[in-house]
Amino acid sequence: MVQPLEITIERSVNKKEKPPEDQLGFGTYFTDHMFIMDYAIEKGWHQPRIVPYQPILLDPAAKVFHYGQTIFEGLKAYLTDDGRTLLFRPQKNLQRLNRSNERLSIPEIDEALVLDALKQLIAVDQDWIPTEAGTSLYIRPFVFATQPALGVSPSTHYQFMIIMSPVGAYYPEGVNPVKIFVESEYVRTVIGGVGEAKTAGNYAAGLKAQEIAKEQGYSQVLWLDGIHRKYIEEVGSMNVFFKIKGTVYTPSLNGSILDGITRNSIIHLLKHWNIPVVEQILSIEELYEAGKAGFLEEAFGTGTAAVISPIGELSWCDEKLVINQGQTGDLSQRLYDTLSGIQRGTISDPFDWMLEV
Ligand code: COI
Repeated sequence: MVQPLEITIERSVNKKEKPPEDQLGFGTYFTDHMFIMDYAIEKGWHQPRIVPYQPILLDPAAKVFHYGQTIFEGLKAYLTDDGRTLLFRPQKNLQRLNRSNERLSIPEIDEALVLDALKQLIAVDQDWIPTEAGTSLYIRPFVFATQPALGVSPSTHYQFMIIMSPVGAYYPEGVNPVKIFVESEYVRTVIGGVGEAKTAGNYAAGLKAQEIAKEQGYSQVLWLDGIHRKYIEEVGSMNVFFKIKGTVYTPSLNGSILDGITRNSIIHLLKHWNIPVVEQILSIEELYEAGKAGFLEEAFGTGTAAVISPIGELSWCDEKLVINQGQTGDLSQRLYDTLSGIQRGTISDPFDWMLEV
């Protein structure tokens, strides 16, 4: 029988000063420790270790820099009022991590080992979990190809790491509605591409459109499909939902849309509340028709970072559509309050989503 790998711990002797909880922003401060594990084709994954947070040394020819063979995850830990540390559906992130690995030809990682590593890392940096409303400890596992070679082929060497960052709200606007530009020129990905994988290139591909939208006063873009520029896919780096005449719609997973864990949780919550929810292909024309007829009641993005981000206005080919008078809808607010309440342990968890560590 293969023995489980032992995770070693080297503790930091220079503890960093903690930032004030009202000034955390998103992903700008990092905790005292990180997790690393190496892969070599002849050895498999080996030497799992928790070490002080530090820069890494990479060969300039490392394949990640040239061919983008890398994937990541994002999840959060919360500290409850009674001092328990909770993770939100971490197994789902680890399953998706391996689906992304598979798509990017990166060797699979032992999910049980990573969960164990994560628990130990959180225990070591326990005092970094912020407690103010809206804050949490954002956890970023990621894998990248380290083989120094310029031939285009899967790397023979990788590193897997977990870093952690105390965070506040992702959008400075909080749960306030944002203005969204419907992007008809650039696309994020196409069916058959890597859209479903959580890989750096998808985010890099989105930056140009996001930059242009920002210059024009929009917070983010609504992505349409890459072939017809017709079907709605995602909003910014989030999944997207629309409430039309009492039914909630979200684009069905088609291979180019990320299988969001918040998306999945929102669908569960809506079903639990007996609110009709439909996963289906949805065109921007249909959405505008519903909006102009007064049937589009709410729209919002969902993701780990912001949880729920209401959409107050869309702009498509110079035509503006204001949603719910630009205000946060009741359902968006209820979903945000319930999901973040479950995550912080202030609302009971009917789905057994929270894992105590
Ligand atoms: C999320 O909404 O959690 C995202 O995927 C954004 C993240 C890349 C910061």
